[in-house]
Amino acid sequence: MSSNSSSAIADLPIGIFDSGVGGLTVLDAIRQQLPNEDLLYLGDTARVPYGSKSSQSVIRYARQAADFMVEQGVKALVIACNTASAVAIEDLQQRHPELPVIGVIEPGAEAAVAGSENGEIAVVATESTVNGGAYLKAIRHRKSDAVVKSQACSLFVSLAEEGWTEGELVEAILSRYLTPLFSDPDHHPDTLVLGCTHYPVLKQAIANVVGPHVTLVDSAQTTSNWVQQQLQQANLLRQQDGSGRLHYLVTDGPERFARVAELFLGHPVPVSDIELVDLQ
Ligand code: DGL
Repeated sequence: MSSNSSSAIADLPIGIFDSGVGGLTVLDAIRQQLPNEDLLYLGDTARVPYGSKSSQSVIRYARQAADFMVEQGVKALVIACNTASAVAIEDLQQRHPELPVIGVIEPGAEAAVAGSENGEIAVVATESTVNGGAYLKAIRHRKSDAVVKSQACSLFVSLAEEGWTEGELVEAILSRYLTPLFSDPDHHPDTLVLGCTHYPVLKQAIANVVGPHVTLVDSAQTTSNWVQQQLQQANLLRQQDGSGRLHYLVTDGPERFARVAELFLGHPVPVSDIELVDLQ
């Protein structure tokens, strides 16, 4: 590849996709770490949640999202969704061998193993991610004697998409799911993996429920490190100084997306930056 064509590729945006607003936690980490990069975010808001759908459906959605992003022109693809990463990463890597395709499960497992002192790790995620055992496999791959307990937390995505992130009612719901993970007197997980990119927005409420002796980890920062490394290795980091641009694509409800995105990013997202697209 000539240096001109490789610098043209380096100027393309990084594509990031999720079922909805959750992947914004990953976008935010990449944005902080790689401020020169243009980021193109796709939230498949017409079909959220993915976590209660069959693997076949999620693979089909993920293929459509990935193909769409690649058609737009991206230099790397980040599957900022644990559910889609768990079932579709290999499929997407084979489908698009021309660019790095990075999921969030392996980085999440890496962060969990690095964060745990006693090797006892609890994982909360969507039903699909938990049932597929992707975290168990990825954690045990790094630490074969790790004790891993998982819990599907079906209502958490709805709370996050609704923007309900604090208060007594929210903590009561969280507690129904989280308490059983910490009630075995013989096992005390010291680390809780937020194995869904929607969950970090509930971090404070989750911390209030599980208490100060449990470290919460999510995959956003570690995924961002992986993106930087892979782009660096491929010589595809954008060199231009100054801030990269953000553009958002959604498959439904741009106004709603803008409202909830503000909660995730801590700053307003103008509706004019959000484009409605059809993936089918
Ligand atoms: N944010 C996604 C995840 O990380 C998906 C949540 C959903 O759509 O159910 O799993």
